[in-house]
This record gives sequence, structure tokens and C-alpha cells, in this order.
Amino acid sequence: MCQALNEQLKWEMYSANLYLSMSGYLNKLGLTGFAHWMRAQYEEETSHAMKFFDYVLKRDGDIQLETIEGPKQEWKDLIDVFEDSLHHESEITWRINNLMKMAKEEGDYASDIFLHWFVVEQVEEEETVRDILAKLKIIGGKGDGVLLMDKELSQRNFSRKSLKSITVE
Ligand code: FEO
Repeated sequence: MCQALNEQLKWEMYSANLYLSMSGYLNKLGLTGFAHWMRAQYEEETSHAMKFFDYVLKRDGDIQLETIEGPKQEWKDLIDVFEDSLHHESEITWRINNLMKMAKEEGDYASDIFLHWFVVEQVEEEETVRDILAKLKIIGGKGDGVLLMDKELSQRNFSRKSLKSITVE
């Protein structure tokens, strides 16, 4: 279980890097609101990674940091960025579900409770990205609608405090 939690720590850090790379790409397109939103995603993923880091230590496990593959740096367009993001989140959901399955099979009740937060979080993450992607497709990923969305997404706030609802303290 400890090794699997370390593996997920790596994936959360990869997620952070992927979203930071997307933020850079969006910034170069001149979409600073989208870039800001994606940068908040980067911060959120970093906090996810640290939750795994802290939890492994709390259970007296060893931290085993692994090499993280570099993320993609180019996308076809704005829609491609969010399709990629949704695809990535689906994969992370699959990984979290596998971790939960393992915790249950091993009778690791503490990890089961710890992972609950991530199960709920993945539902929200997928829903949010799916919503943005659907809106982008409605407007064809271009035109004035993109600028309106850019303004809306520039309002996103990220607060580490809001992510502190983790159990197993
Ligand atoms: Fe930490 Fe977006 O999954």
C-alpha cells in the first residue's frame, strides 16, 4: 500500500507539471484568464501531492520520490487542451479507484478513509473540466465567447485552506 501511495504522489506531481505546462501554453495564446485557471489547477495538484506525502509519513512509511516524466508542451488549440485535461483526470480517477480497491482488499481502514476525500475530489474535477469543455465546444473554441470565458476563468481563487478537509489526522 505504501508503495502504491508513493506512486500516486508521483502522479499528482505529474498532474501539477502538466497543468503548469498548459498554463504556459495558454498564456502564450494571450488567454491569461485560462492560464490563471490552469495555474490554480497546478497549485491544487501540488496540494494533492503533499496530502499523499504527509499521509505516508503519518503512517510511518518511507517517501520514495521517483523520476517524473516531462509533460506535453504543445496542443492543437484551446479545445485540445481541455480534452487532454479531461482525459488525464479520468486516468487519475481510475488510479484513485484502484488505490481504494487495494485499501479495502488489504483491510487498511485508515487508507480507505484517507482516500475518500480523493474519490469525491475526482468527481468534482471531472465535472468542472467537462463543463468548461462543453462550453468551449458550443462556441467552437473561438470568437468573443472565448474572451468572455477568459474573463470568467480569471476570477478563480485557490485556497489551500479549502482543501484541508482531510480526515485521518
Ligand atoms: Fe489530483 Fe486532478 O487529480
